[in-house]
Amino acid sequence: MWRETRKDLRIREKCPENPSVIYRCKQASFRKLGELQLIRMQVRLVPIDRENHRAMWRLTLKPEQQGFVSPPAWSLARCFVKVFGDRFEHLPHLIYADNEPIGFSTIVCDPASAEDYWIDDIMIDEHQQGRGYGRAAVIESIKLILRRYPRCRAIQLTCFRANTNAAALYLSLGFALTGDNDPVFNEPNYKLSGPALDNFREA
Ligand SMILES: CC(C)(COP(=O)(O)OP(=O)(O)OC[C@H]1O[C@@H](n2cnc3c(N)ncnc32)[C@H](O)[C@@H]1OP(=O)(O)O)[C@@H](O)C(=O)NCCC(=O)NCCS
Repeated sequence: MWRETRKDLRIREKCPENPSVIYRCKQASFRKLGELQLIRMQVRLVPIDRENHRAMWRLTLKPEQQGFVSPPAWSLARCFVKVFGDRFEHLPHLIYADNEPIGFSTIVCDPASAEDYWIDDIMIDEHQQGRGYGRAAVIESIKLILRRYPRCRAIQLTCFRANTNAAALYLSLGFALTGDNDPVFNEPNYKLSGPALDNFREA
């Protein structure tokens, strides 16, 4: 696992505008150069519709990751039937890097609430992982929620105990364990709130 070095910390300090999207490139070709490469990963969240939905079916995960999120078709069906209830908006998005769909996220929010804002599912295609897209996509999901829902004071998600890579990502962005478990999966919930959430608010 990549660990932040003192040099990385100094670089983060020099990039105060949004240090979390500064990503140390781990691609082998860059590593061979023996240099620290910083790249700013850019992703877009695009609502899933009849034009683009087929791209969702082509997204795949490694076998050991498949239990961590719903399969794409199931995730979309959960949104269609409004599985969390009518008071929630269920928003499925494709995640694009350049013009290529590389993952999906589903956001489930109660606009009248203060804290019922959830990243329900998020995944990056197995062939695109480890390049900073997951971090960028979680940040874009957070920003989308904050832009769309002015009442939002917390963003929550469930992350399976076995999913240590995703948990490391969420903790690094400021999410904290709530101490509660998801009632269906009995897996821990995480919450981003207070100053950690305010870091992502746009002026
Ligand atoms: C979790 C997931 C979205 C991360 O996407 P990604 O594009 O691979 O992640 P990134 O390259 O942006 O890495 C972000 C952080 O994730 C963690 N991480 C990702 N891959 C890792 C690995 N192989 N080993 C250790 N940590 C890893 C690290 O904390 C990393 O931060 P760092 O780059 O500063 O070390 C992706 O692995 C995925 O789709 N997993 C399967 C589905 C899933 O688990 N979804 C989350 C459900 S809660």
